[in-house]
Amino acid sequence: MFYGLALVFAATLCAAQPSPEELAPLLAGLEAQPAAIERRVPLSTNDPTIAPLIDLQVFAPPAVPKQGTSCTVILLNHTFGDGSFNAPAIVAYVPPTDASCGEVGNWATISMNLSVYSIGTQYDRLGAIYLSHSEIWRTSSAEPTKTGTIWNTIKDVTHFTPLFAKPGDLMMDFSNIIAPDLLLDGVFDVILSATFYVPTEQFPAAISSDTIIPLSNLSPTLPNFFTISDDIGGITNVTLPSSAVEAYIEIFCSGNSAEEFWYLNTPDEFVQDFPESTGVIGKGSFREIQVLVDDKLAGVVWPYAVIYTGGITPSNWRPLTSYGAYDQPTYWVDVTPFIPILLDEQTTHTVTLRVVGQGLTAPSFNSDWFVSGSIHVRTGTSKTTGKITSYNAPALKISTTGGSTPGNTTVWTKVVAHRELDIESELLTSEGKKTVSFSQSLDYVNTAQYADAGWIQWGQQSTVGTTVAKHQGKQVLRDAFSYPLSVFSNYSLYEEQFGGYGSEINQTHIRALQPPIGPYRAIQSIQHARGQIGMDDWPGLRHAINGTGATEQTFAYVDGRGESYFRDVAAKNDGWVRDAVWGTLRDANPPVPRNQIFGPGGGPGFRRMVGRGMR
Ligand SMILES: *[C@@H]1O[C@H](CO)[C@@H](O)[C@H](O)[C@H]1NC(C)=O
Ligand SMILES: *[C@@H]1O[C@H](CO)[C@@H](O)[C@H](O)[C@H]1NC(C)=O
Ligand SMILES: *[C@@H]1O[C@H](CO)[C@@H](O)[C@H](O)[C@H]1NC(C)=O
Ligand SMILES: *[C@@H]1O[C@H](CO)[C@@H](O)[C@H](O)[C@H]1NC(C)=O
Ligand SMILES: *[C@@H]1O[C@H](CO)[C@@H](O)[C@H](O)[C@H]1NC(C)=O
Ligand SMILES: *[C@@H]1O[C@H](CO)[C@@H](O)[C@H](O)[C@H]1NC(C)=O
Ligand SMILES: *[C@@H]1O[C@H](CO)[C@@H](O)[C@H](O)[C@H]1NC(C)=O
Repeated sequence: MFYGLALVFAATLCAAQPSPEELAPLLAGLEAQPAAIERRVPLSTNDPTIAPLIDLQVFAPPAVPKQGTSCTVILLNHTFGDGSFNAPAIVAYVPPTDASCGEVGNWATISMNLSVYSIGTQYDRLGAIYLSHSEIWRTSSAEPTKTGTIWNTIKDVTHFTPLFAKPGDLMMDFSNIIAPDLLLDGVFDVILSATFYVPTEQFPAAISSDTIIPLSNLSPTLPNFFTISDDIGGITNVTLPSSAVEAYIEIFCSGNSAEEFWYLNTPDEFVQDFPESTGVIGKGSFREIQVLVDDKLAGVVWPYAVIYTGGITPSNWRPLTSYGAYDQPTYWVDVTPFIPILLDEQTTHTVTLRVVGQGLTAPSFNSDWFVSGSIHVRTGTSKTTGKITSYNAPALKISTTGGSTPGNTTVWTKVVAHRELDIESELLTSEGKKTVSFSQSLDYVNTAQYADAGWIQWGQQSTVGTTVAKHQGKQVLRDAFSYPLSVFSNYSLYEEQFGGYGSEINQTHIRALQPPIGPYRAIQSIQHARGQIGMDDWPGLRHAINGTGATEQTFAYVDGRGESYFRDVAAKNDGWVRDAVWGTLRDANPPVPRNQIFGPGGGPGFRRMVGRGMR
């Protein structure tokens, strides 16, 4: 039986990925793994997990001057425990004044270090850090061990220099719930620091924007991201400096609650094929984050699916998380072509961050998405004027098809989407006349197969695209990406006492990004994870009482400064199997210590953990 619901069209899936030339140094770097690092002596031991267990998301550390001075400032030292849900820590921020920190606003690099310690039992929780109401970091937590877990992540925040150069408020939301009746006792001890690097001859001061305007709810006390659960989105009134010559929006976004696994959600057309008890979630798998200027589409984000540490099968992600879990990728839209509209003094102006799904009834997605951003503005010396000369934003092309066998014993669905966007403006700026353009070409395919009334699901998703912005012929932004994802999950025995569930996941993040501010970088992360969870009671309060989990990852990074970072790492059953790190940035983010390496069999396994991921 077939339900042909919309026109299927031919999508061009090959054009948009990073070019072979961009991938070559990543692949060559991974090939060139030094033999000396590979020769590890595994600890053949049955000892319990070494405490504290080092848990990590693989990341390339920021490039910093090799000589010269720097200073480190503790921004926040806070415990997120009972009462921290929707109650961010807020502290005053003042730019560092010590001589070792250099001239305020004239730094080579600003790096931030988020260090978290947790002991006990806890779900994965979402965190966000804001400086003067602009989000600068979206993170989540580990599911900690009973003997203590620590995770450190370092992030380059140099492009937020205008915010770091003036006093403001630093807010960190890490909404946690302590509930003894649910045995949730893991608090998060956070130390957040920033290191300011003084420029050197070889590593000059970073070029940043002049002004940063938050796109957030601006609340002085509550998390600043928009919690979006309608088709309207989060709206910010924006007044741009009248001499603006460039304006770029950086966007943070993540699905929460019924949208945490948006890429596995079922098209509404097929939800009724499943019994209600399976709990299949509708509104389909396609999600687009839109940026609108005065309600006119200015750009879109087709996000990479971050899987949190409690996601799909928690045992997959301890101690090696999915890429993005502790430092989520962000996305750029160039709104420079809209500067003439934003500077029109006849009316007030808004920038809207909107989420669009594929639900058949409003809202088009489930509750909810957390979205925020900031506009990075470079100014000139006189008022900018101009006009949009070409605006080509055809409607999203999306088709949904699917079918089932008699009795709906198996069901399949397929969603295909394509988006083109081309905007061009003529600007008259203090730097002269400029033709500026922003274009996007994006392709999406999601296929899903279901068995056992939906308790078993295979989902494959491909998201590829290229975003390019040019100012007077010069490329100022290019984002070429490919995010394949394949998830098999099996909840067949979920409803049985001593039942369980398991999954196998392949996820890749390939991205060549020339951001509008900061150096070019290319990243390839390839992960393969699989695991099983065994549970106790049913119905009633359940615990994961045992399980297995294994994750392997290769990671490659090269940037426009000639820096590189390569990692070949694997973890299994709460222990590190192997960890090799090489490349010029190795020393800033070295492998886990040898005493945490268990060898091929992995660690001692999982004993007491709590179920499926939620906020
Ligand atoms: C953080 O605060 C705790 C408790 O006040 C203190 O013991 C610890 O030294 C502080 N850590 C840092 C790095 O400031
Ligand atoms: C990050 O901060 C933690 C906690 O203060 C510290 O132990 C760690 O050494 C820091 N890492 C780096 C690279 O500075
Ligand atoms: C934005 O401006 C409109 C009127 O132009 C006003 O009604 C609205 O309250 C403003 N929103 C915020 C968040 O300030
Ligand atoms: C199969 O799906 C159809 C259409 O979605 C629905 O009407 C029907 O009740 C389902 N049959 C079974 C046996 O679940
Ligand atoms: C993941 O990739 C491995 C290796 O290519 C393959 O054997 C496995 O079937 C894949 N699993 C899923 C769920 O995609
Ligand atoms: C799902 O898990 C159950 C229980 O472990 C197993 O019997 C079954 O074969 C699995 N199904 C698939 C398709 O792997
Ligand atoms: C998990 O515990 C249950 C109940 O004690 C047991 O039947 C099952 O074999 C265990 N599974 C593993 C993988 O240890």
